[in-house]
Amino acid sequence: MEVVIVPDAKAGGELIAEAMAALVRRKSDALLGVATGSTPLPIYEALAAKVRAGEVDASRARICQLDEYVGLPAGHPESYRSVVLREVVAPLGLDESAFMGPDGSAADVQGACEAYDRALAEAGGVDLQLLGIGTDGHIGFNEPCSSLASRTRIKTLTEQTRVDNARFFDGDIDQVPHHVITQGIGTILEARHLVLLATGEGKADAVAATVEGPVASVVPASALQLHPHATVIVDEAAASKL
Ligand code: GLP
Repeated sequence: MEVVIVPDAKAGGELIAEAMAALVRRKSDALLGVATGSTPLPIYEALAAKVRAGEVDASRARICQLDEYVGLPAGHPESYRSVVLREVVAPLGLDESAFMGPDGSAADVQGACEAYDRALAEAGGVDLQLLGIGTDGHIGFNEPCSSLASRTRIKTLTEQTRVDNARFFDGDIDQVPHHVITQGIGTILEARHLVLLATGEGKADAVAATVEGPVASVVPASALQLHPHATVIVDEAAASKL
């Protein structure tokens, strides 16, 4: 695992956007796995700026989603599908045909999970998967004690994650769904390159456990230690307990 400490979130975003741009220059139809949350926004802004400036042609790139809430109505502004279309796909000048994600409103949720795992494999696998990290060490929505071999499946959110994510739902925890679909840890580990960005002091404990602790399902992000090509990019605050 490579750990890179950058001065701030903007520098981390720029570094990762350049890695993504370099990948797309090498492989124009690269499948880019994206994450939601606040942390990766500087990456998407920097990558979109490169596209607008003509530094990279992303017109053949493909975007896939890491996780999704279950049960939000189609088109809900905080469904991760809506978020990724708004914050990543559209700013890169792509349309929905470039996007893949699990169907969080499917009647058969388990079937939708299995279909998504198959679709990722049939698409040739994820070339670069971006990850954030939850304060409890989760990646995607793989909460502590998720199997390190898990596949895409339905999970129940912990109270802490629902509290953390209530800010996207007018601060009202009652609006935060209890159930989600997430790529499993085993699924995530199949991506060719994993890039985790963590910023701010609130992530310092989770980062220390991920990088310096044992590989353990109680810290799902520690599974990155098992991957042959994993990069962890942290700002000074998130690195403060390393
Ligand atoms: C959610 C997402 C994760 C993300 C995490 C951290 O739980 N499912 O993919 O990493 O939030 O979000 P933030 O970057 O806003 O702290």
